Amino acid sequence: MNKVKSLNRKDLLGLKDLSVDEIKLILRTARSMKEVAARPIPKVPTLLGKHIITFFFEASTRTRTSFNMAAKILSANITNVAVSSSSVVKGENLIDTIKNLEVMGVDAIIMRHSMAGAPHLAAKNSKVVVINAGDGFNEHPTQGLLDIFTMKEKKGSVRGKKVLIVGDISHSRVARSNIWGLTKLGAKVVVVGPPTMIPEGIEKMGARVSYDFDKEIVDADFINMLRIQMERQGKGLFPSIEEYAQLYGLNAERMKKAKPDVVVMHPGPINRGVEITSEIADGLNNVILEQVTNGVAVRAALLFLLLGGKNSD
Ligand code: CP
Repeated sequence: MNKVKSLNRKDLLGLKDLSVDEIKLILRTARSMKEVAARPIPKVPTLLGKHIITFFFEASTRTRTSFNMAAKILSANITNVAVSSSSVVKGENLIDTIKNLEVMGVDAIIMRHSMAGAPHLAAKNSKVVVINAGDGFNEHPTQGLLDIFTMKEKKGSVRGKKVLIVGDISHSRVARSNIWGLTKLGAKVVVVGPPTMIPEGIEKMGARVSYDFDKEIVDADFINMLRIQMERQGKGLFPSIEEYAQLYGLNAERMKKAKPDVVVMHPGPINRGVEITSEIADGLNNVILEQVTNGVAVRAALLFLLLGGKNSD
């Protein structure tokens, strides 16, 4: 069977839109990028002369920094536009802002926004590449891809593997991107959390719902712990942090029920002692910092493929 070698799309907005072949192409390309990133001089001239903008309406450590590193590995120019000191604060709307960036000769805009669909609106109104770096509760496609990349590194394939996604599913764009991508690749995804944090209809995406972490952990291959998003969720979704941690947190006691080779993941940032204890976050089964390392390779792969590169394998 012939492998696809290029992404025939302008933008990367979500894993919902990607075919299995496209996901596999990105992951294959990320493997090559990881090799480049590990070289003593991690630099190739592939995107020389390209201009990339990051435009984040929400805070970020991992995503924005790894896009910056990925761009520099590929020799692209990258500029971080700080929303707080941009003309957005004077009331300039999103489409006008994007059009102004575009006419300066920008080739790609990497955007994070609190509103679901904001990158889609930007993409529709722009000729340049738009990459979604997280939009509201909708998707965080590059996180989903780096999570799947990490899972494949650990266990070869995700097909048939049981993946628990635990926590605040309702407010999690990471959960949605993981569910879209993992179910397409044949994983068995179970979302686990209190009923107040699991949105109605999530089963339609291909995930099974469970409220019982202790039952599901026993035969899980991967446990992806989500951050409790204090800044988004409002009040009253669970009685107390202590009760949440007791029922849905990952701690040493609960880990005793898991398979010895279970892989523990977290997209970061971590609320230590809430969704995961430090003992587990820093323990033997975790790949949390490997996920961060892989974020550079996956984002480099996307920049390469969306800005004109072809995979040569
Ligand atoms: N996982 C993630 O998106 O982290 P940042 O918010 O730091 O980018």
